[in-house]
Amino acid sequence: MSFQKSGAKSGPETNIEPMIMALPKGRILEEVMPIIRGAGIIPEPDFDNSKSRKLTFDTNHPLIKIIRVRSFDVATFVAFGAAHFGVAGNDVLLEFDYPEIYAPLDLDIGHCRLSVAELESLSIGDDPSRWSHVRVATKYPNLTRKHFAKRGVQAECIKLNGAMELAPSLGLCRRIVDLVSTGNTLKANGLVEIEKIIDITSRFIVNRTAFKIRNDEISEILKNIANRNDVK
Ligand code: PRP
Repeated sequence: MSFQKSGAKSGPETNIEPMIMALPKGRILEEVMPIIRGAGIIPEPDFDNSKSRKLTFDTNHPLIKIIRVRSFDVATFVAFGAAHFGVAGNDVLLEFDYPEIYAPLDLDIGHCRLSVAELESLSIGDDPSRWSHVRVATKYPNLTRKHFAKRGVQAECIKLNGAMELAPSLGLCRRIVDLVSTGNTLKANGLVEIEKIIDITSRFIVNRTAFKIRNDEISEILKNIANRNDVK
């Protein structure tokens, strides 16, 4: 698919600034890209070169550039208007709860869940309904506190940015709150899932101000993504 420039070229000679699409790095990107390509947005070849140190990529669309950042940072770039739109999981959206982000479309990818887990040995005879206080390692302190507060449990959260599964066996805490997909990571670290907090999928997200100012262009992209034929 090629895009009409609507009489405008990107670049300093016009007033039309390119729009920035923020995409999450890592495993989820493999699920995101068929959708983006299926909507007719094709990144420059360097995007698929794992050795490239570039962080911003042109696309075949004269007014769309892609940045590739950590999943939590997608939401921050979009919330502050540094990126116009992007893709983020509802785990990240609920954790930050940015009012500036509008999340109109569930992309039906990135399926997983946010769960509480603990060492298998501790789980035998453990009854979560009797907890009054828990200490957990997590990347999601806000979501975790809210979840436990709803049933009157005080959650003390130790913020980690990855490899949460190490925390119980090394005595940092007895429980973790983390993403579970296949369950292999929990199993490999002697942990069992004891309570699901939320189901997760990824959504197309838009900065609310950008959506007002560039409504026609962003609505067109949203429509193309909603009606896409995924390109593997
Ligand atoms: C996520 C999550 C778990 C793992 C779960 O980590 O934090 O560690 O995936 O997946 P599984 O149930 O299929 O084993 P990810 O690999 O995304 O990296 P991270 O630790 O940097 O978040």
